[in-house]
Amino acid sequence: MAELIINGDKPLCGEVTIGGRKNSAVAVIPATLLAAGTNTLSNLPAISDISTYNEILRHLGAVTQEPSNGVMRVDTSKATPEKSPPMEMVKTIRASYYLLGALLGRFGYARVGFPGGCNIGQRPIDQHLKGFKALGAEVRTDHGEVVVESRNSRLQGTHIYLDVASVGATINIMLAAVLAEGTTVIENVAREPHIVDVASCLNSMGARVVGAGTDTIKIHGVREMQPTNHAIIPDEIEAATYAIAGAATRGDVTLMNIVPKHLDAVTAKLGEAGVRVQENGDWVRVVAPERPQAVSLKTLPYPGFPTDAMPPMTVLLSLASGTSMVSEGVFENRFDHVEELQRMGTNVRVEGRTAVIEGVERLHGTSVRATNLRAGAALVIAGLGAEGETVVSSIEHVDRGYEHFDEKLKALGADITRVHNGDDEDDSADDSTDGDDPGQVVSFRQS
Ligand code: EPZ
Repeated sequence: MAELIINGDKPLCGEVTIGGRKNSAVAVIPATLLAAGTNTLSNLPAISDISTYNEILRHLGAVTQEPSNGVMRVDTSKATPEKSPPMEMVKTIRASYYLLGALLGRFGYARVGFPGGCNIGQRPIDQHLKGFKALGAEVRTDHGEVVVESRNSRLQGTHIYLDVASVGATINIMLAAVLAEGTTVIENVAREPHIVDVASCLNSMGARVVGAGTDTIKIHGVREMQPTNHAIIPDEIEAATYAIAGAATRGDVTLMNIVPKHLDAVTAKLGEAGVRVQENGDWVRVVAPERPQAVSLKTLPYPGFPTDAMPPMTVLLSLASGTSMVSEGVFENRFDHVEELQRMGTNVRVEGRTAVIEGVERLHGTSVRATNLRAGAALVIAGLGAEGETVVSSIEHVDRGYEHFDEKLKALGADITRVHNGDDEDDSADDSTDGDDPGQVVSFRQS
């Protein structure tokens, strides 16, 4: 149970090296289950979601260890789908749903508990299950677990139209379809950069996936796949978080080791807010104005403004001059952080899926609590930009997705200290698993 104590109102300045993309890593790791043998993954972020995934893989019989300098070997030769991973591990992370596609693809069978992850809306997995069914798998639920099965016959390529351009469903169906017989066409797929990353990892294992990054993906099934060496792409949400933190502290931050194009929607909005943005090759520099201008935005699937960067952005806009409107277009309930921010002096009104933000000149430090990953990052940024001391508790949520967060901020000039507090009973993982009740999470909208 940890908290961060921040003495704010100090500009963040300098260079920060961005790690590998969390949401890509948590898909590539289960993808290794599709072939027997030893894979080498690199540019993995040092975050707790990766440790959790490793534990799950070990439970399934794979041999793996914690990444060292971002590099990790995963030997999947002895992996088996027969021992379903313990519910408490599966519920800790959302991406445990990728075990369904990967194990179904290789073994024709998977039994996995309903996924957890941040509590930011209903988050059904009906589109994933619709895809598995269309490929010929039997899908059922049993004691809070999802069972997908096609043991007696190979999955069959087919045509699938997603009702929503879901990142998780797109990747999960790809994982299941790579070893199917014939061609699978998935339409209305998500186009996030990590979908391209996962497809290129699969292709390096011998799969034949084309069209990743567009709204239609074609998968020509292959008989078998081989282990691979794959480097994860940089994390544009981590990059966006430091860019916004720099802007919110009147700082000057250069994000190293990124793909600037992946950050376009964020840097465009920062530019509109008066932040000076320079980019070149694999870096982006953001130089804050004395005070940002209000801007309005709506989060959308890629290439729109990313929902994962929205909570940090509301902090910057809370300090802007004028009124901003921020609409959440992906999840139903992603303004958890607003209530905590109010305690620091923001003036934000949430109306349905829109936050109306009246900028204030100053935020004031106080004690606040992270309720999920990006909400936690937003509160840390608020603390960095606020006068006085801010204590952000339940920082475990943030450790799920940001590597060495406090150390990287310290290197940029932040006055931030991590304190381990064994008595903090509020730091339970309950918030991250609220959405896990199977009756709520799953809605079988199959056609
Ligand atoms: C992934 O969540 C990410 N998580 C999220 O990261 C990210 O916010 C989100 O994609 C959008 O980019 C992982 O990659 C592990 P979706 P996912 O399926 O897959 C609805 C972070 O902070 N939907 O694209 O759950 C759903 O309810 C986070 O790093 C269905 O209706 O997102 C939502 O409204 C949190 N049925 C929308 O689609 C389905 O079967 C998009 O969800 C699936 C989704």
